[in-house]
Amino acid sequence: MATLPPYVDTVIVGNGPSALILSYILHGHIPYYRGGHHDAILDTKLSASPSLLDLTPDLYAHFQSSLRYSTQALPINTLLDTLIRPNADTEINPTSCIEWRSDPRKTTSHIAIGDAAQAGGQWADNPVSASWDIGTLSYAEMLSLPEYSYSDHYAETRKVAMPDFIRPSRAEVADYFKAYPAAVGISDSIQTSTTVSGISRTSNGFHIASHGISCKHLVLASGIFGVNIPPPKLLAPLAGLKSACEPLLIIGSGFSAADVILSTHPHRQIIHIFQWMPDQRPSPLRGCHPTAYPEYATIYRQMKLAALTCGKRAPSKSPLVRRKSNPFFNSRDWATCYRGLPNATIMDVTNDNGKYVAKIKLESGEVFETPIGHLEYVVGRRGSLKYLDQALQDEVLESSSPNSEADPAGLISAHTLRTKAESDLEVAPKIFIIGSLAGDSLVRHAVGGCVYAASQIMDTASSPTSCSSKTGTTTPVGATSPTLKTGSPLRANCNAHQDLHLDRRKLKRSVDIATAENKVWSESGWWGGGWRMP
Ligand SMILES: Cc1cc2nc3c(=O)[nH]c(=O)nc-3n(C[C@H](O)[C@H](O)[C@H](O)COP(=O)(O)OP(=O)(O)OC[C@H]3O[C@@H](n4cnc5c(N)ncnc54)[C@H](O)[C@@H]3O)c2cc1C
Ligand SMILES: *[C@@H]1O[C@H](CO)[C@@H](O)[C@H](O)[C@H]1NC(C)=O
Repeated sequence: MATLPPYVDTVIVGNGPSALILSYILHGHIPYYRGGHHDAILDTKLSASPSLLDLTPDLYAHFQSSLRYSTQALPINTLLDTLIRPNADTEINPTSCIEWRSDPRKTTSHIAIGDAAQAGGQWADNPVSASWDIGTLSYAEMLSLPEYSYSDHYAETRKVAMPDFIRPSRAEVADYFKAYPAAVGISDSIQTSTTVSGISRTSNGFHIASHGISCKHLVLASGIFGVNIPPPKLLAPLAGLKSACEPLLIIGSGFSAADVILSTHPHRQIIHIFQWMPDQRPSPLRGCHPTAYPEYATIYRQMKLAALTCGKRAPSKSPLVRRKSNPFFNSRDWATCYRGLPNATIMDVTNDNGKYVAKIKLESGEVFETPIGHLEYVVGRRGSLKYLDQALQDEVLESSSPNSEADPAGLISAHTLRTKAESDLEVAPKIFIIGSLAGDSLVRHAVGGCVYAASQIMDTASSPTSCSSKTGTTTPVGATSPTLKTGSPLRANCNAHQDLHLDRRKLKRSVDIATAENKVWSESGWWGGGWRMP
């Protein structure tokens, strides 16, 4: 890795999708409205002032009252998402209403420093033992970054055009993000395998002690998935076990637990402890439609079956399972290899001559003992701001939401900084948060925050004497995201040509899929880092 410069205007912590987008903009690529959005209010306002770096909150003031936009993402993120993918809910591959224009005068010196071994942040890591071949929740278009899209990458590497409705594997997405910096010419600013620490405020900016760098602006793009919530002390003895003979114990009720199950050898004995509270806190997997997400739907059914039979072995012929139509069901003999234990608790772990035995209490009160060969404790992931010195952590976390009692101290979820993000992504003077740290964890919702941070940073970078009075560009209040309600009116004239050739059956499927993606994500709690056992 090249040596780091002693001074840059902006240091970005992290090298995930949000850091990559911001770096792309700070390289002097400015988003402009090029017309054609179906929302007449947006169209009028943006046509008069097309640079997205000059945007003001009145642009999206109407989002909250419009049925077209629902209320989950920050308005600024909803805005960029709907401009980049107008009618993503009703149309396949809609044409973007944004074009990226190069303006070298706007180039701002910066460096994005991340601990992931390649560009892509959490996509480059795999902290749980889940297979790299598992499909992503998002469809490919929703994971694309500016200028070089996932489908560009697909076409470039495979020499064929990408089919519609691809859910790439984690490995393929990681590959795409890895290739992105070189493809758009930002490699000079992206550091990998580098952990920053000891960041403090100085009289005229910030100092990064771990690397001796000073900067004027600090952008936190460190995400909320870097830390696995660790197992409690009682389970600590199981942590290092790697025996494939005794059963695998999985604790957790969400996607990570499901991913581990899907990645486990079909003949391996699995004991799966999960919380089952269908009314108060349903499993994130519940929203997974069997057509869009057959693998997760299969696991959910097994969990449901276990809850119905209360931890007893499942009958081998289950009416709940449409086995013929679902390859994931047929991939293992669930009745003999999988044992789901809803609401079970572990009372004790003993070591009998190197063999570990767990004493497990079922919901029914019954207690049984079982040898354990390996533990996967997958109850959720969080972020951390420990790379800031105490004073800066206090500044950033000031008036943030307190940790819920379920969260280990010091860990950051999507909720922690959300309220602050809703009032301003500049959470302390000259410190911005972007990406999942700001509470919108989908890649498609990362662009808006990056555009906002860039507008503030370039503003002061180009006029060093201004005191950065934030005239006009106060941040997003309230929240919205593009509606996926199927009843929204078809748009006017963004892409009339493609419209002619649109296959209506595909359209219907596209709508179903977009709806499923959104539903799975918003119901899953994954946007918040996943649920955990209390
Ligand atoms: C299992 C899983 C599946 C997901 N699937 C999808 C999906 O299908 N679609 C979707 O849109 N989103 C998905 N997400 C959400 C995810 O938030 C986004 O895809 C995206 O990664 C967010 O990007 P980011 O830049 O905010 O942060 P991240 O990608 O989390 O990157 C932040 C990086 O900063 C690093 N970092 C933290 N502290 C330091 C430090 N002190 N020094 C150096 N580096 C540091 C972290 O280790 C991490 O590598 C998924 C998340 C997970 C965990
Ligand atoms: C598990 O516990 C929750 C809350 O205590 C309860 O509502 C639920 O019914 C229990 N599940 C089973 C399968 O007993």
